[in-house]
Amino acid sequence: MSTIAAQTITTRRLDLLPLLVEHAEEMATVLSDPALHTFTGGTPDTPQALRSRYQRMTAGSPDPAVSWLNWVIRLRDGACLTGTVQATISPSDNGPIAEIAWVVGTPWQGRGIATEAAQGLVDWLSQQPIPTLIAHIHPDHQASAAVATAAGLTPTDEWHEGEIRWRRSLRR
Ligand SMILES: CC(C)(COP(=O)(O)OP(=O)(O)OC[C@H]1O[C@@H](n2cnc3c(N)ncnc32)[C@H](O)[C@@H]1OP(=O)(O)O)[C@@H](O)C(=O)NCCC(=O)NCCS
Repeated sequence: MSTIAAQTITTRRLDLLPLLVEHAEEMATVLSDPALHTFTGGTPDTPQALRSRYQRMTAGSPDPAVSWLNWVIRLRDGACLTGTVQATISPSDNGPIAEIAWVVGTPWQGRGIATEAAQGLVDWLSQQPIPTLIAHIHPDHQASAAVATAAGLTPTDEWHEGEIRWRRSLRR
């Protein structure tokens, strides 16, 4: 499988910028609310821990068959970072699959930012040689389910670690 690298994605209000280690300090503040972990588990990282995490993420997957693509979401008007989107691309019997996910910092929630970012991400992924998108969403997480629906995914009857698998086929 050829390696796919994250590129800048532009939407109406947002720039999705490929993640850099230098984003860690600002993102530690954006992601500092423990409530962001209600459905996904874990706790907020300190700036130092997030820097280490971003170093590992930008170094790339140790498995050469898997691509880790990560973006920060920049609100162009505010010139500030507001969250992240990611796609993990893995091989499967039916061609590459991208597992996508999104996070928006609490102060910026409820403004359609996750929806716009996820739609931009899916549009970009649809231009890559990737026939299938999936996302894993906790059954009680209505906001994330709404984001997935707006990005064209639909729930399946498959479960993964307590979450529902959502899917979208990108075959044309
Ligand atoms: C899920 C998340 C990214 C949504 O971010 P957001 O920028 O607020 O989302 P949007 O403003 O685009 O809203 C998306 C939809 O959720 C709805 N929504 C927002 N907050 C909601 C809430 N608390 N309860 C129910 N629905 C909610 C919005 O009305 C919108 O629905 P609509 O399109 O039908 O109007 C954000 O809540 C988050 O980061 N949560 C923590 C991390 C996480 O769980 N990520 C998901 C992993 S799969």
